[in-house]
Formats: sequence, structure tokens, C-alpha cells
Amino acid sequence: MIIAANLKTNLTRSETKKYLDALESFLNAQNIDQRVMVFPAMTSLQEHSGKVCVGAQNAYATQNGAFTGEIGLDHLKEFGINTILIGHSERRHILGETQESIVEKFNYYKELGFEIVYCIGEPLDVREAGEEAMLNYLDAQYQGIDTEYEKLTIAYEPVWAIGTGKVPTLEDIESLHTKLKEKSSAPLLYGGSVKVSNAKEILALTHVDGVLVGGAALYVEHFSTMCAYAQELENK
Ligand code: 13P
Repeated sequence: MIIAANLKTNLTRSETKKYLDALESFLNAQNIDQRVMVFPAMTSLQEHSGKVCVGAQNAYATQNGAFTGEIGLDHLKEFGINTILIGHSERRHILGETQESIVEKFNYYKELGFEIVYCIGEPLDVREAGEEAMLNYLDAQYQGIDTEYEKLTIAYEPVWAIGTGKVPTLEDIESLHTKLKEKSSAPLLYGGSVKVSNAKEILALTHVDGVLVGGAALYVEHFSTMCAYAQELENK
């Protein structure tokens, strides 16, 4: 399974270092061999070796150049980073990234052989408009994306579930994941208000290959527990 932490705009460089060290110790002590990923804030990116894969939350589709406020390939290479999150809803909805610019970024980092965690998800009004509207909306987020890319992981994160404590029912997650699996055989993560109290039941669902965790992952003990749950389920 894949257990991923999106630390968003939290944890400084030194806090992130402590976090990674604590997580590594836990994974080693508990013999956890699940795929564990951590996406720190941009200035907290750092070289890391061990079981945890450190990835970038974002980068521009460039090696370097005049793109004020952005980072490019050179900045990722400095820390040996070759994993990237693309299309997160906060970048789509708060920072105004369009599907076109997301596709450009996807293709750029795909050409470089990066592992890509590609995020999709519908806002509340679309959810409320019914299943057809929802599937059409999600379909548009697959436009231009190579869904057969071998280093692709997809994260389904309903926008209305992110940071709100609201989670779709387990039946809804399973049913939607089943439909999404028809569009791509890539590992499929669920994200949106995953926490210690619901992670196990979500991870146990058919067609859920892991979770992408925001707020609850800020506590390394909580995130570690979720990694242990994934291991338990795999050992069954
Ligand atoms: P929360 O876990 O805080 O809802 O965030 C989910 C998310 O956006 C992960 O990318």
C-alpha cells in the first residue's frame, strides 16, 4: 500500500527533519515495508535516505529560468527528489492552475521519469449535482494525462472532504474507486479527512491502494499509526 503525507504549508525545515527521522525510526522498528511518501513544504525539501520517499508538492515545468516564486528541476535534483504531486485541489482552486498547465507539468516530469502522484476530485456543488455530473467533472481531470504511465499514482480527493472532517461513506468511496479503476490501473489513493480513527476502514476497501493524508499527517505519531495499519492489512 501507499501511505502519503502532504504537509502543505506546515513544518519548517528543521521540524521536517525531525519528522522524517521519527518516521524512519518507527518504520524500521516496526518492520514496515509499505510505500511511505512525505511531501514537505518547498523550503523544507531535503535530501533523505531510508524507507521514506520525499517528494515535492509542486514545481514548475522547467529546469530553471525566470518564473518568480517557482522552483524547477534543478532545485529538486539538488536534494535527489524525483517524486512530485501534481494537480492538488488547492493548486487548482486556490492558486488557479488550469488543466492545461497541469498537463504541461505532468508531461514535463513524466519525460524526466519522475514518480507522479496525480490528484483529482470534485467540489461540493458538483457532488450534489449527481453522479453523472461528478463523473464528467472527474473525466475532465483525466484529459491530457497519460493514465498508463508506469510511475503514476492517482489520488482521489473530494474537495469538500479536504480539511473539513467530512468523508464520503465507505460505500461511496468503494463505488467511486471501482469506477475510477476502469479509467486507469494505476494505484489509487483516497484523500480527504483521513485520520487515525477512519484510516483502517478506508484502507481495507477494495480498490483503495492507500491514502493521502493532510492535517492528521502533521502529527508523526498519527501518520506512523496509519503506516502500521497498512502493514497490518497487508500481513492479513
Ligand atoms: P486533509 O487530510 O487535511 O483533509 O487533507 C487532504 C489532502 O489535501 C491531502 O493532499
